[in-house]
Amino acid sequence: MYSNMGYSNGHHQQQERVTTHRDRVRRGGRRSRESLRVSEHQQQQQQQQQQTERKPTTPCTDFDVAYFHSYAHVGIHEEMIKDRVRTDTYRAAIMQHQSSIEGKVVVDVGCGTGILSIFCAQAGAKRVYAVDASDIAVQASEVVKANNLSDKVIVLHGRVEDVEIDEEVDVIISEWMGYMLLYESMLGSVITARDRWLKRGGLILPSTATLYMAPVTHPDRYGESIDFWRNVYGIDMSAMMSLAKQCAFEEPCVETIMGENVLTWPHVVKHVDCYSVQIEELESITTSFNFKSMMRAPLHGFAFWFDVEFSGPAISTINNHVPSVIASSNNHPMDGFQKKKRANPNETLVLSTAPEDPPTHWQQTLIYFYDPIEVEQDQQIEGSVILSQSKENARFMNIHLEYASGGRSFVKESVMR
Ligand SMILES: C[S@@+](CC[C@H](N)C(=O)[O-])C[C@H]1O[C@@H](n2cnc3c(N)ncnc32)[C@H](O)[C@@H]1O
Repeated sequence: MYSNMGYSNGHHQQQERVTTHRDRVRRGGRRSRESLRVSEHQQQQQQQQQQTERKPTTPCTDFDVAYFHSYAHVGIHEEMIKDRVRTDTYRAAIMQHQSSIEGKVVVDVGCGTGILSIFCAQAGAKRVYAVDASDIAVQASEVVKANNLSDKVIVLHGRVEDVEIDEEVDVIISEWMGYMLLYESMLGSVITARDRWLKRGGLILPSTATLYMAPVTHPDRYGESIDFWRNVYGIDMSAMMSLAKQCAFEEPCVETIMGENVLTWPHVVKHVDCYSVQIEELESITTSFNFKSMMRAPLHGFAFWFDVEFSGPAISTINNHVPSVIASSNNHPMDGFQKKKRANPNETLVLSTAPEDPPTHWQQTLIYFYDPIEVEQDQQIEGSVILSQSKENARFMNIHLEYASGGRSFVKESVMR
């Protein structure tokens, strides 16, 4: 909990929301892996499996246990479900792909309350495996029962890495995206599900994801947090400014900005094709950028956001078993490019968290500089960013940012935890 809880202005509300969001990953007690329960329906099956139990691909760490524990809280699910941009887009995508779902077997990776599994059942799925390692799976089971869908939706209370499904599946659905897309590192579990169960030519929703970054100006934010100290009730408190900068801008901030805060077209940090992406590709992502500011403004930092698309395997990579050697050296051609306008000739559904689009609970992630840089129109802003999974906890993200403009260069290290 932030120590400034008693402080009440608009910014405090943002800070409070940041805390709540990050609690998604770090809140919660410890629970031993052995205590992960399996729904009654699956107990018999599990006992048989234990005799021939395979080694889990990834160990379940204490951090994972805390992570799953955080998802047992109703508040997180309420927030996600109330995010209508998110939930309506998923439902629309399921309905758009109804012909690929009807009569088919689906796995919902991280089902939470079961909402996406139920949408799939409503779209006519023959069977849906709703998998979640969090205790929220208990409620998902009850929700499924209350909606008379127990014959179709099978809730598996366990990790995707550990549970057993004795058939291939036609469809994978998952809402796995974290802040800055890759925070939480849940995409690895979708890849595991894909490689364990998806039929060749099967459908993955969403099918692609793209992380963007762009330089931003945000004088109001800087004013509220830093310039505020210049004159407090007539007292010169500018001696506080250095501490205020450290406290406000040391870590990435999750907050909503507007299109007008963005100084250039965004740069594609990473494009992910869910049909072919490999787990190793996500451990560390490096990109170099070279922006030209479209206006004269104080540059306060960089914003990151993402979008995901819901298209079939035909539009994306058809072969879902790409050898890792090829895939890991095979950056998508979109990586490193500046994206000007979304070309969407196929009417592919897009869930966007961009500043110019309707707000979502992901908001945008901002990395602020301690001091703004005055940039002229057309001035170059160049540098590089490395996003890497933290060694301490792979669900956290280390951000190494190097940037230069107007002959000055800087380095900023931060951790999203
Ligand atoms: C972002 S929530 C989405 C919940 C639900 N699908 C929805 O859309 O409302 C992600 C869920 O995935 C679960 N999860 C994450 N990694 C998992 C894994 N490896 N195995 C099983 N469940 C996982 C979490 O416990 C959490 O409930």
